[in-house]
Amino acid sequence: MERTFLMVKPDGVQRGLIGRIVGRLEDKGFKLVAGKFMQISDEQAKRHYAEHDGKDFFDNLVGFITSGPVFAMVWEGDDIIALSRQVIGKTNVKDALPGTIRGDFSAHTPHNLIHGSDSPESAQREIANFFEEKELVVYNKTLSPWL
Ligand code: GTP
Ligand code: MG
Repeated sequence: MERTFLMVKPDGVQRGLIGRIVGRLEDKGFKLVAGKFMQISDEQAKRHYAEHDGKDFFDNLVGFITSGPVFAMVWEGDDIIALSRQVIGKTNVKDALPGTIRGDFSAHTPHNLIHGSDSPESAQREIANFFEEKELVVYNKTLSPWL
């Protein structure tokens, strides 16, 4: 079983899409482990996007992700890192297919509604940047044998 860090970005919050985005992740059968509605700090944002430090869009990215509250989450499931990125859709909106969150709801690449970890190492680092271990809830979903 794998865990990933997913986060509705400030555009998704402002547009009132938290419920619909979470709904798609629930529909897929992923298991919610933690969720936090929060304003992230500049330092936290820079840690989160450390891999993009030095790129020309880095300052805009940090500015955008701190421009309003986000809904930070941890989800669990088999191969969830790859599968959740399929549900989310490609980074560039021109490549994000209909049926994906970005393909259906986003028309501008930087405002692409949701973040998803891209590897087990990123997931571990990103989860630790937003959550304490005790905030991750351990429980069974009664439907799991059917998913
Ligand atoms: P995240 O889930 O947000 O990490 O998106 P991603 O993994 O699909 O893309 P990536 O990690 O490569 O980029 C992180 C974020 O930076 C993207 O979601 C975009 O918002 C933004 N971004 C990436 N590439 C560009 C770019 O070339 N120009 C601009 N303005 N923003 C970019
Ligand atoms: Mg990324």
